[in-house]
Amino acid sequence: MKNIVVLTGAGISAESGLLTFRDTDGLWEGYNIEDVATPDAWQRNPELVQDFYNMRRGDVLAAQPNAAHLALARLQEKYTVDIITQNIDDLHERAGSSQVLHLHGIITRSQSSANPELTYPLEGSEIKMGDLCELGSQLRAHVVWFGEPVPMMEKAIAICEQADLFIIVGTSLAVYPAAGLVHYVGSEVPVYIVDPNVPDVGLPARFVKIQEKAGTGVPQLVDELLNA
Ligand code: APR
Repeated sequence: MKNIVVLTGAGISAESGLLTFRDTDGLWEGYNIEDVATPDAWQRNPELVQDFYNMRRGDVLAAQPNAAHLALARLQEKYTVDIITQNIDDLHERAGSSQVLHLHGIITRSQSSANPELTYPLEGSEIKMGDLCELGSQLRAHVVWFGEPVPMMEKAIAICEQADLFIIVGTSLAVYPAAGLVHYVGSEVPVYIVDPNVPDVGLPARFVKIQEKAGTGVPQLVDELLNA
């Protein structure tokens, strides 16, 4: 059985109603990264950071998996499928994918602000100021901020090295170290990239570009792979 590895970004959840980061209507048009997504921002104004992620969590809980998430789950009928996602939503899991690695954390969990290894499931959509971890420090969202280590990278690299086929969906490949994962895929491995605006980041010419929205392009590709 073939190992298929899929690297996803915000674009796969766009048709579920979740904003991407760098498109013209993206989240980073309305917010400064430095205000809401760095350790310094948390030091300066934790309430603002907490509110920003509470809103993101509310949006995620209200969203549903779309045809692209569902198609990737169907791929498991024939292949071993590892999803490496930069997304903090849980739409791959809710669609039925069983092996999902979250490079940048997951918004449905909270994290100790003293020890990033302490994370907890969350009941509702809000973390309140005053909600504490077992060490007595404030809880924050379980997300990786700019300037923080990406502890799942080693595992993600090992997964990419084992790929027999690699699919990239809905990422601008602008953020490292995540964007560097494509370099760990074997040079003979077929690579497909599904994005209505395939990023111009010097991808190898052999990568097959599918210039479609995820909700259209991913189910088509999955059908082809299931019928292969
Ligand atoms: N289907 C597929 N791709 C889409 C769709 C769609 N319907 N809509 C937009 N896209 C594509 C865009 O063309 C773009 O290439 O999704 C990509 C979104 O890029 P970004 O907004 O930069 O998102 P992402 O690459 O996931 O960002 C990486 O940046 O801010 C951080 O931590 C955050 O994980 C995030 C990281």
